[in-house]
Parts: sequence; structure tokens; C-alpha cells
Amino acid sequence: MNREQRLAELRRRREQSLAGGGQERVAKIHARGCLTARERLDLLLDPGSFVEIGTHVTHRSHDFGMEAKRIVGDGVVAGWGTVNGRLIYCFAQDFTVFGGTMSEANAKKICAIMDLAMDNGAPIVGLNDSGGARIQEGVLSLGAYADVFLRNTLASGVVPQISAVMGPCAGGAVYSPAITDFTFMVEGTSHMFVTGPEVIRAVTSEEVSFEELGGAMTHNRKSGVAHFAAKDDADCIRCLKRLLSFLPSNCVEEPPRRPSTDPVDRRDPALGTLVPEAPDKPYDMKKLVRSVVDDGDFFEVHEHFAPNLIVGFARLNGRSVGVVGNQPSALAGVLDIDSSVKGARFVRFCDAFNIPLVTFEDVPGFLPGTQQEWGGIIRHGAKLLYAYCEATVPKLTVVVRKAYGGAYDVMSSKHIRGDYNVAWPSGEMAVMGAEGAVNILYREEIARAKDPAAERRRLVTEYNDKFASPWIAAELGYLDDVIEPEDTRPKLIAALEMLKNKRQSLPYKKHGNPPL
Ligand code: HXC
Repeated sequence: MNREQRLAELRRRREQSLAGGGQERVAKIHARGCLTARERLDLLLDPGSFVEIGTHVTHRSHDFGMEAKRIVGDGVVAGWGTVNGRLIYCFAQDFTVFGGTMSEANAKKICAIMDLAMDNGAPIVGLNDSGGARIQEGVLSLGAYADVFLRNTLASGVVPQISAVMGPCAGGAVYSPAITDFTFMVEGTSHMFVTGPEVIRAVTSEEVSFEELGGAMTHNRKSGVAHFAAKDDADCIRCLKRLLSFLPSNCVEEPPRRPSTDPVDRRDPALGTLVPEAPDKPYDMKKLVRSVVDDGDFFEVHEHFAPNLIVGFARLNGRSVGVVGNQPSALAGVLDIDSSVKGARFVRFCDAFNIPLVTFEDVPGFLPGTQQEWGGIIRHGAKLLYAYCEATVPKLTVVVRKAYGGAYDVMSSKHIRGDYNVAWPSGEMAVMGAEGAVNILYREEIARAKDPAAERRRLVTEYNDKFASPWIAAELGYLDDVIEPEDTRPKLIAALEMLKNKRQSLPYKKHGNPPL
């Protein structure tokens, strides 16, 4: 081959790689309202920043007529680039090439960028859209998945890993997104399940649609497998980029600091009346969060799952923080199985990536009932406790109203290494609420009283006067201060500044054994 011919060959191969599975298949994808793998990467990355690896890779199969079907790039586009100027490693499965299925060749490309990400300390973003294991490759493709799963596990806690499921994701393939830190799904076009509707019908006789079984809202609302539901591909990529803006690139880096024009000493008088006088009346904890953080910008994670606990990212004086808050307007803000697991995973993520935790507490305790007890609230609740105990990032806690029972301990209390714990004057720290306590302590006295209802009221008032306040905890030093609600933002920012160089370590161990 002469020089010209060599160049022509390079161009031919490049064009083939860009064409993927061809115009017809691309048109099918567009008709579904989806983007192709390369279009998705174009939206994700800064213009001109993408550097592709394995561009010319093809599969090595000979069986089932595959010898004749070689497509340059083989079903996954992988490489690195920048998002708002910051390096990430990424791959996008190309559904136009053998349905984006996992082959030995595809896995090698994915694993290569995962290895680079770990060696160089930058996030891994995977855009999933695949028919799963490539049937023609048999066990080779199963092994290929395992190679990816191993790297997902090794990279966990080293660099942030984000999955967007933008098409089918079935069988064992779901376990790569499941190990990663955050999973996005696209409404109407993405599905995740271990076994599909047909297998379910055959085994359990249940009738269920793809959407109901494993659609975006199913996994956002019911299973908690997905953290975000996007309207379409573009919305998904937009949200994913927003998430990245809060995160450091790796576990030894601080989160990026964004200059803020929101005054650090801003006081919000509306906070003074946020908590209703009646202790059992709900209010929206998100209002408090938005009032306190920079520019009211709260990026909620797992919005649709276990809404009795809110978690998400925000900034205080430009610094990323992880916010955890009990939500009195959902199930009165109790901790149950789902909210405990949701909170635990979020706390552990923040701790792994040096993101300080700010906890807003108003929790009447753990949810009673056989469903919760038999479902294992003991071990699931312990996950959240373990996560907070283990966390060594700065921990700031505001007791807004109730801090009852075990939940008082769990929610970043002073005893488990809370750094700055304060309460509003509406704070109540007690073993339980007044009604329950009075019934346990004075059942017989109430029954014997001339007017049992009046006696109960008297005892409830007496109990509330003693315990429904932050003062005992403050006098014991379990609180650093009782603050006026309006001062919450300036106080938290001052504490965060003080804690910016915090370093705390755990006793030597191979790893802990959280109650998984
Ligand atoms: C090889 C596959 C394939 C597969 C799809 N294709 N799945 N090729 N192995 N697993 C190919 C099709 O032959 C077709 O090729 C192209 O991808 C697009 O598929 P269509 O069926 O035309 O598309 P669509 O109608 O949109 O349906 C998409 C689909 C369906 C829902 C994903 O293809 C499907 O159900 N596929 C099988 C899914 C599955 O059961 N996978 C195994 C899961 S178990 P052409 O050439 O016509 O474009 C698993 C184990 C992993 O993955 C274990 C890890 C430990």
C-alpha cells in the first residue's frame, strides 16, 4: 500500500466507525425519541474534547455468521473528554451495532477506560443501551461482564461512577449500574430487570408490562434502584452534568468550589415561622434547605423514593455539601427501611468523596409495625447508623424539631462524632413523644383518676414542659448551641469554614462489616 492508499484505508475505517450499524438502525433509534451513542457523548462532553480509544476494534467471533459481520468499533464508543473543563472517562453503548450487546471486544474498551479512570483519578460515566450479553459469544460475553463488574467494585470509593440507563438493561447487565454510585433512567425508553416479563409469566404466572416491571418510574419510586428519572436523553445528560458539578474527581480531591454571590450572612426571617406551633403538623423540609443553601439551589437525589427522608447536593458559600433531612410532610418524617437504606448509601457516598454532611433533623422515631420489623428495620436502620458513625467528613446537624428515640442517636448526633450540632428553639429531644411516654409511665394513674382525659392532658403538658425543648441536651453539651432559625445559614457556613481542614481517621482494619 502506498501512502495515499494507507490514508484512504484509515478514512474508510473511521467513517465505518462513525456510521455504527448504519442509517436504517439510526433512524429506528431516532424514531423512538432516543439519541445515538455518539450524539449522547456529544451532549455530555465539551465540544471537541472527546478522545476515543479502541476506535478500530472489532469482535473475534466466527460462529453464527459473525465472521462476515464485523463493524468497526463493535458496539461501544469509549474514551475520555471534559465536562465543563473537568476530565471524565466515558463509554456509550451503541444500540445500532448488534443491539449494543456486551462482547469480549466491547468489554476490553470499557475496562480500559475504567483502568485509566482509576489510575488518573477521574469519574467514570457509562451510558447504557444494550441487549445484554451477546448471545453469539456465549461465556466470553459473560466473562466480559464480570471483568466490568470487578472494576466497578475496585473503583467504588476511588472515583465517582455514574450510570445512565438509556435503553434496555437486562439480566446480569443490571449489576454494573447497581454497583455504581448513581443511576439515571429515561422515562419511557429505558428498562432494567433481572428477568423479563416473559420469564416471569412462565415462572410465576404474573402478567406485567416492561414499563411496570422495570421502567424509569418503577425504579425511581418502588425499588430505589434508580436515583433520577429524566424526561428524555437530553434531560438525562443535562442532569448528569449537574450532578458532576458537585463532585470531586476522586477520593483524594476536595469537591470543586464555585464562587457564590449569595451573601454568607444572609438571614431568612421566614424560617422563624416555618415550623408550626402544633408538634404534629407537617411542613416542607425542602423549604428550609432551599432557604439555607446558596441561591436556593438544591439538587435532590432519589427524589421519588422514600420521600420521608430527603437527600441531595447543595452548596454553602460555594462548597459542596451533602444534605440529609427528615421530611415531616411525608410519613411525618419517620425512619423506615427504605429511607434508612437511601440515607445510608448517600452518607457513605459523601464520606467517600470528602463532601461534608449537613443534617436537618425532625424525626419522630422509627416506623412501628410488623411489616417493618419482619422486613428487617433493625438491620436496615443500622445501615444508616453505621454510615453516620463511620463518616469522617465534617458533620453539621440542625435539630429543627423532633429528635426522638434511637433516631436521635442515628441522625448525626454529637455522640457519633457530629462536629457542630445545634437546635432551633423548637427542638425536642426525648426518648419518645409525650402521648406515648405518658401512656407507658402513668397508665394506672390515668385509669384511676376521676377525669382520666384531664389527667392525661396534665401529664402530657408536664412531660412536654420538661422534655419538648432543646435545653436539657444543650445543658449536657450534646448541642453546641441553640440558634435562631434565621441564623441557620451564617452559622452553618461559619462551622464549615472552621472544619475545612478536618482530618479524622478510623482504626486500622481491612474493611468494616456494615449490616448490608
Ligand atoms: C446478540 C442481540 C441481542 C443479544 C439484541 N440483539 N439482543 N444480539 N445478543 N443478547 C440484536 C438483535 O438481533 C438486533 O440485531 C439488534 O440487536 C436489535 O435488536 P431488536 O430485537 O431488533 O431491537 P428491539 O426490538 O428494540 O428489542 C431490543 C431488546 C431485544 C428488548 C433488547 O432485542 C431483546 O429482548 N434482546 C434480548 C435481551 C436478552 O435477553 N439479553 C440477554 C439478557 S441476560 P440486528 O442485526 O437485527 O440489528 C444477560 C446476561 C448478562 O445479559 C450476564 C452478566 C453476568
